[in-house]
Amino acid sequence: MANVSSWQAIRLVRRGIHNYITKRLLVVAYEVTLSCNCNCRHCDLGGLIKGEKQIKPEEYGDLTRRLSPVVVLFSGGEPLLRKDIAAIVKAVKQSDGTPYLILIGNGVLLNESNYLQLREAGVNQFSVSLDFPDERHDEFRRRPGLYKRLEQRLPRLAKLGFRDIILNTAITKANLREILPLAKKATEWGVDISYSAYTALRTGNEDYCLNNGEDLGILRQAINELVALRKRDNHIANPEAVLLNTLKFFEQGYMPDCKAGIRSLVVMPDGSLVPCSLHRSKYATRKEMVEKFSRTNPCSSCYVALRSYSELSVLNHMKSIPHYTKRLFA
Ligand SMILES: C[S@@+](CC[C@H](N)C(=O)[O-])C[C@H]1O[C@@H](n2cnc3c(N)ncnc32)[C@H](O)[C@@H]1O
Ligand code: SF4
Ligand code: SF4
Repeated sequence: MANVSSWQAIRLVRRGIHNYITKRLLVVAYEVTLSCNCNCRHCDLGGLIKGEKQIKPEEYGDLTRRLSPVVVLFSGGEPLLRKDIAAIVKAVKQSDGTPYLILIGNGVLLNESNYLQLREAGVNQFSVSLDFPDERHDEFRRRPGLYKRLEQRLPRLAKLGFRDIILNTAITKANLREILPLAKKATEWGVDISYSAYTALRTGNEDYCLNNGEDLGILRQAINELVALRKRDNHIANPEAVLLNTLKFFEQGYMPDCKAGIRSLVVMPDGSLVPCSLHRSKYATRKEMVEKFSRTNPCSSCYVALRSYSELSVLNHMKSIPHYTKRLFA
């Protein structure tokens, strides 16, 4: 069953081309709260924040109209900790029906009832983080019982037949040998999987970086196998170019030409605009952000999913259309 209508697909392509040519935003990430019910080893967040200033659902609607992106991400922190998350999604959808809406979460609170409610509100894709294909995930996320919960719930949600769940794996030194087993797990659960790259910028912890020839050799082989696998198995969501760029990022230790502020930006829980989750200097408008940050931004220290997708060339997006279509209309 398709998770976008043919009409939405046409509008998405039209806006994508328009925003690309006119140098507008492709992706806006709403970090609706920085509170979290996990405390992951690779992340600087974790725990609840008391008295966080949060904008209201209708303000997300206004922002979406103003920023007019192609893709909206609801992230955090853990977005399902916001009791009004469905109202936020609905306000975004009603203000501007075009963007593709992705909810990124750790899955702790995801169940059939809120999954269906959020779909109804307008979510097109549920991105659920998974770092290991077994209980090591609980240890990494410091959340006992999480893997079991995902193992029970995700295949059940997948069986509802909407083909809108994608596992999200940040590759680290710790899960390097689990890249292929994670892809197998996705197929077994009837969901898709997308890979991104660890950056030490969040925590300053270099222990999860791939820092020697052996690590890179393992990664190279795994990426080559994923590239071959995605030709036969459409559960791998990354375009081939993103997989190859992820390898390049680890090999070089950087990825130049960051387009934070130009192709994407992040909105903090209080509504302020920042270039990315790792550079949280606030700007009153996107124009000011481009002038004061993006044009001279020397940072090249991450290749997280937000970057890898929003900076992909038109040619590579076009090359991936048959793969996207197969997945969207599966
Ligand atoms: C910051 S979390 C927010 C959403 C939600 N709490 C979750 O974990 O899915 C978004 C994604 O960033 C990833 N992430 C966290 N720390 C990271 C890091 N240092 N490098 C790369 N990705 C990271 C997480 O694994 C997750 O898939
Ligand atoms: S990665 Fe997500 S779940 Fe883990 S601490 Fe960070 S925000 Fe929370
Ligand atoms: S490379 Fe770009 S998106 Fe990544 S941390 Fe640096 S400024 Fe942010």
